[in-house]
Amino acid sequence: MIAPYALLGYLLGSIPFGLLLTRAAGLGDVRRIGSGNIGATNVLRTGRKSLAALTLLLDGGKGAVAVLLARHAGSAAADLAALFAVIGHLYPVWLGFRGGKGVATGLGVLLALAFPVGAACCLIWLAMAFWRKISSLAALTAFAAAPLLALLAGRGHAALVALAIAALVVFKHRANIARLRAGTEPRIRLSA
Ligand code: G3P
Repeated sequence: MIAPYALLGYLLGSIPFGLLLTRAAGLGDVRRIGSGNIGATNVLRTGRKSLAALTLLLDGGKGAVAVLLARHAGSAAADLAALFAVIGHLYPVWLGFRGGKGVATGLGVLLALAFPVGAACCLIWLAMAFWRKISSLAALTAFAAAPLLALLAGRGHAALVALAIAALVVFKHRANIARLRAGTEPRIRLSA
């Protein structure tokens, strides 16, 4: 019986930490600034680096916790929890199914599902973010690599989950991809 782990993953994934943290900090609704996204990159646009870092950690952590809680029920339960944690972040019932883009949560579930694969994706994401200074490009590169890295690591199940997550992440980055193609995607700014 693994269906409850889909619900567990979805409910954990649907917690909109970026929105909750910015509201708690008195910054209003993060969906009204920048890209309108609830993720760490857009929280950074409020000028509060610590809140952005906390959003990144909590959005990643909720994905990892979903997988770790499901793991005792077997690999299928963990895979399902992983996928639904990302779906919960992308389509949270609490926000009318309009959520984030799945980057931090996707990295969190990959770290918990197949640590070396998740760690390699985090390194790719960080390297690209430092090199090109465009968050969406860093995310798209990391998730494009994820299924291949999982396959190379001999983690067939994780490769399938990574492929599904990568497809969702790309789909949610449609507007970013259009801006990347037009050369208008904003760069990460660490100075306020
Ligand atoms: O984590 C999401 C990132 O890849 C893009 O965010 O706000 O620039 O659309 P944003």
